[in-house]
This record gives sequence, C-alpha cells and structure tokens, in this order.
Amino acid sequence: MSQNLSMLFSVPLWTFKAESPLVLNKQLLQAVKEEKKMDSGVSISNRGGWQSHGKLHFKEEFKNLVDLINEHLLQVGKDYGFGAMSSKLKVTSMWANINDKACSNAMHSHQSPVGMPNPLVISGCYYVKVPKNSGQFVLEDFSRPMRYLQLPFQEQNLMNSYTIKVPPKEGSVLFFPAWMEHSVEANHSNEERVSIAFNVALINQPMQKKL
Ligand SMILES: [Fe+2]
Repeated sequence: MSQNLSMLFSVPLWTFKAESPLVLNKQLLQAVKEEKKMDSGVSISNRGGWQSHGKLHFKEEFKNLVDLINEHLLQVGKDYGFGAMSSKLKVTSMWANINDKACSNAMHSHQSPVGMPNPLVISGCYYVKVPKNSGQFVLEDFSRPMRYLQLPFQEQNLMNSYTIKVPPKEGSVLFFPAWMEHSVEANHSNEERVSIAFNVALINQPMQKKL
C-alpha cells in the first residue's frame, strides 16, 4: 500500500480461541441438544433451523462459555474505547442456533432502542460445530454508497468492500459492534451447524440520542 494512503474509518472484529475447544465443544453440543428437547425455539433472524430462548447465560451448562467471554470483555471494551467503564460490560443474553441443511440467518443487527438502561454495545458468536460449507458469517456496512455503484475493481480490499465474509472456526469466539449488520449464509452441508450467540450491554449507562 502507498505510504501516502491513510484509512479513515474502521469497524472492529475481535477473534479469540478457546484453550481446549474439543472439550468445551463436546460439553456445549450436549447442552444445546438437551436445551432443544425442552424448548420449541423462537423465530427471529433464523430462516429454518432452531434458535433457543435468550437466557442460556444463566444456566450452569453454559458457564464455561460465559467465563470465556468474560475473560476477553475487558480487552474488547478497552480496545473499543470504553476505558475504565469496560468493567461494566456484561453478557445480558445468550442463545443457541442450530442451522440444518439449507437453513440460514437473515441480515439483522442487535442495536438497542435509545433510552434503554443497559444498552447493547457488543454482540458475538461462539462456534460449537461448523461443518465444511455450512455457511460463512457475513458482515455488511449499509452506510457505504459503493453498495449502489458498479466499479471495475480488480481486487477486493477494505476500501472497496461493503460486505466481508468471515469463515467460522470451531472453538473461536467473535466480538463485533452490536449495531453491525450481519447474517449467516445457507448451510450447504448435510450436517447441522451449531453456534451460540450473545449480547453484551453496558450496565446502567443509558444510551442518549446525539443532538
Ligand atoms: Fe445476530
């Protein structure tokens, strides 16, 4: 890249790996399957498949995952610019997703309405089981005018992209801004794709509308 080039804006995406993913994933897969037996599921962003209720973070079976998330929240908060307030970042919802063959998740974001006492600031996802071709995680920046332009770029880079695809990896946890639009491609494998998503709020710091 040219030394005369400066990048102006950026969107963060953090990726961390579990220390013992095989052990953790076996335990979480079992917990998700047990949960499915008791919960008929909800339909929010999922197109087909099964999505659980959002209170998994209160359950003992998911404590190891909450611990893994908490281990990294302080760093994520500080990187993002919350400073000492980063200690007020807490997981406030967590749900499991099972995408069977052909199932996907539509484009959406997790932004809180203005005035909520504990605004959502970060969302994330942990990958329990991701067979080959079971769907990439897609982030999309709707604010970029290049969405409506067809320019003859010869290569894709951060300056000319409004969509970024992230290949999910078992045992990895992603953190990204809650306002960021995202989706999951259709599962083209014959096996189920299992992930656990979560929201992180800034406790007791109501979000105000900028005038
Ligand atoms: Fe989502």
